[in-house]
Amino acid sequence: MPVVDIYIVGLGVLNIDQITRETERAIRRSNEVLYVDTGIATQTYLESLCPRVTSLFETSYKETGKRLNAYHHMAARVLDAALDHPPVTFAMHGHPIVGAYAPFLIRDLAGLLALQVQVLPGISAMDCLFAELMVDPCVAGMQMYEATDLLLRRQSLQPDVPALIWQIGCVETTLHTMRVSKPERFERLRSHLLRFYLPQHVISAVYSTPHPLMPSTMHRFAVGNLCDYAHLLHPGFTLFIPAAHERPIEDLELLRQIDSVEHLRQITHEPPAGGQGK
Ligand SMILES: C[S@@+](CC[C@H](N)C(=O)[O-])C[C@H]1O[C@@H](n2cnc3c(N)ncnc32)[C@H](O)[C@@H]1O
Repeated sequence: MPVVDIYIVGLGVLNIDQITRETERAIRRSNEVLYVDTGIATQTYLESLCPRVTSLFETSYKETGKRLNAYHHMAARVLDAALDHPPVTFAMHGHPIVGAYAPFLIRDLAGLLALQVQVLPGISAMDCLFAELMVDPCVAGMQMYEATDLLLRRQSLQPDVPALIWQIGCVETTLHTMRVSKPERFERLRSHLLRFYLPQHVISAVYSTPHPLMPSTMHRFAVGNLCDYAHLLHPGFTLFIPAAHERPIEDLELLRQIDSVEHLRQITHEPPAGGQGK
């Protein structure tokens, strides 16, 4: 088994119910787990696995403080702990590499300090959203953007490919806040979407439930009405935009070939003599 100083793990979205066995084993092996998650049972559950449990949420985020400072704080605390009493676990909401910066800081600084890092996957909000909306990202593809980055770069959206827009509730700021949004906050995003979609195109803002006894929250509305939902769209929401139309097949030669045994034989090796392959 390789020596690990820092496990970086995801806790999933639904309270403690989506934590993998692999993650549980990593936490059991750790001398401290430092975590960022506001699930009601998280602290108690982690205490059942590890002698030292530290919540980093309260010390990392300050009202109107830069979210970047929060990530620096998390990374510093995790590296400090790993230097002092390895191994330690850094546990985050969802998947630890999706929409998260602290794990990258930890990896880079751990490299300079000769600390070994292992990242374990977790169930992301994206996985929950696929299940709740029954969307298969393999059918028409999937494009994904972080809301503010989408606007900063004026990224083009392909209306024939479904889209996920992360962090819509945090759009237009790098600062942390618990304040409720005004309609004006979404005006730029609405205008950008209207470059690619008709105003009546129906989209969904989804907040997958963090609690097993509560249903998820879903608001369905036309792109043109986005600003009317401002007060409801807290930082936990992700926006799903279904494709506006289907892209027609262009490669008709490949379309003929995909069902052809002859074509399959042309693009694969003969099986070894005596092997299977009928
Ligand atoms: C900083 S990112 C963290 C993502 C997280 N690591 C994951 O894998 O889901 C925060 C964004 O993830 C999405 N998100 C997090 N929790 C969610 C939930 N319960 N339902 C829907 N989207 C969620 C939202 O877009 C939110 O603004």
